[in-house]
Amino acid sequence: MPNNKFTGKILWRNRFAFYLLAVGSACGLGNIWRFPYVAGENGGGAFILLYLLLAFTVGVSILIAELMLGKKSEASLLKITHRVSTTHKKPYFWISRLTLFITLVILSYYSVISGWVLHYITQFVVGFFRGDTLHYISSLNMKVLTDNGWLQFALASVHLIVAGLIVGQRITNRFEKILTTFIIPVFVFLFAMLLVRSLSLDSTPEVLRFIFYPDFSKLNLRSLGHAIGHVFFTLSIGVGALVTFGSYFKAEDHLPKVGFRVMMVDVMISLFSVLLVFPIAFSIGEKPLTDPSLLFEALPRLFMKIQFGALFGLGFFICLWAAALNASVGLLETLASNYSERYLKSDRKNSIWLITVITLGFTIIPAFSGSALKDVKLFDQTLLENIDSFLINYLLPISGLGMAFLFFKALPLADQKDLFLDEKTESSYALINYWQAILKFAAPILIAAGIILQIIALVRG
Ligand code: PFF
Repeated sequence: MPNNKFTGKILWRNRFAFYLLAVGSACGLGNIWRFPYVAGENGGGAFILLYLLLAFTVGVSILIAELMLGKKSEASLLKITHRVSTTHKKPYFWISRLTLFITLVILSYYSVISGWVLHYITQFVVGFFRGDTLHYISSLNMKVLTDNGWLQFALASVHLIVAGLIVGQRITNRFEKILTTFIIPVFVFLFAMLLVRSLSLDSTPEVLRFIFYPDFSKLNLRSLGHAIGHVFFTLSIGVGALVTFGSYFKAEDHLPKVGFRVMMVDVMISLFSVLLVFPIAFSIGEKPLTDPSLLFEALPRLFMKIQFGALFGLGFFICLWAAALNASVGLLETLASNYSERYLKSDRKNSIWLITVITLGFTIIPAFSGSALKDVKLFDQTLLENIDSFLINYLLPISGLGMAFLFFKALPLADQKDLFLDEKTESSYALINYWQAILKFAAPILIAAGIILQIIALVRG
């Protein structure tokens, strides 16, 4: 198997495995944990429709552009901006610096949430050995975690160190193979089984109305920005990971098709996640739909209703953690390959550990936001909520736009056409103009509108 020039990663020959890998980098906590409560927070159906429209236009267009940037340049983001700045005699470094800063903060924030998943795994195991799993399931709640900053910090550290070991020991390939051959199939099975059980609850008709009947009066000034931010987060746009990933593809791979399929699978998983979580949340009564604890509060209640529920619960959270670990490995790999190439100039292993330690430093803020830092509030929100909102709803869309800008600067029109048009895919000829128009006009306008509307909402209070 040939090596990739840029990262030294082994290229996978098997197409199916390749797709699983691409999908694996997009699917994670964003779909299963974040999407349900963000959709709940924004009123359900109308927001989901907005999210779908944005995923099928702006989202997939930038996703494809980022993949192309990586494939054509075969270089890290920092190198690409360096080249572009030299050719155009203008400094465009802000794009890669902003992007890599966002990547670092997302990794720290993502590690804290992954730590929550780890906590649930440990609780299932403890319950199993004590022989009273049902009691454990019913007493699992988020308060134990949010009140305890040290516990969150310790769990996030474990998560980050495991990610660091995988990237540092260069066993990413082995980990991905385990993921694609074992974890993903098990996850699909468990997910499908739980989905069927959840949809058999009495609350399902009400949930279906909430999800599929768009009530536009429920949208507010923040909704557009929230939808764009979430589309970018869930598709891993604007963090440089897709640029790295694009460089793995071979000449004969048609990237628009790859991008479209990745987006489709990602969107489907998000929709299934809403269908999994909402029926349980609706049947609880007080409908805690808008809280980040939604997934963690809802699922254990479903496991209690199922035979061998504790075992299935353990399996589900292990798979979820593996998916989160995969996403974190992607983020760390991106940071490591960029920084070790340009700044750190030391060997790769050292730079990985240095980045891991810096990221750990950043995790302190979200980890302690519910305990030692709970009185530090901005705009009436905790620091964790502020990081989530500022990072995902403001910075990520700006950096995604930076990527589109870089794409046009780095790739001449002939290259763009060459990569987009495919004789075997007739629709590519019809779609190329739309794609370019979305990148050049629709994306900047929508992103600017999303940000301005959110600022107005903030000022109004
Ligand atoms: N797309 C991932 C998710 O939905 O969980 C989050 C993520 C992973 C964002 C990797 C960015 C990234 F580079």
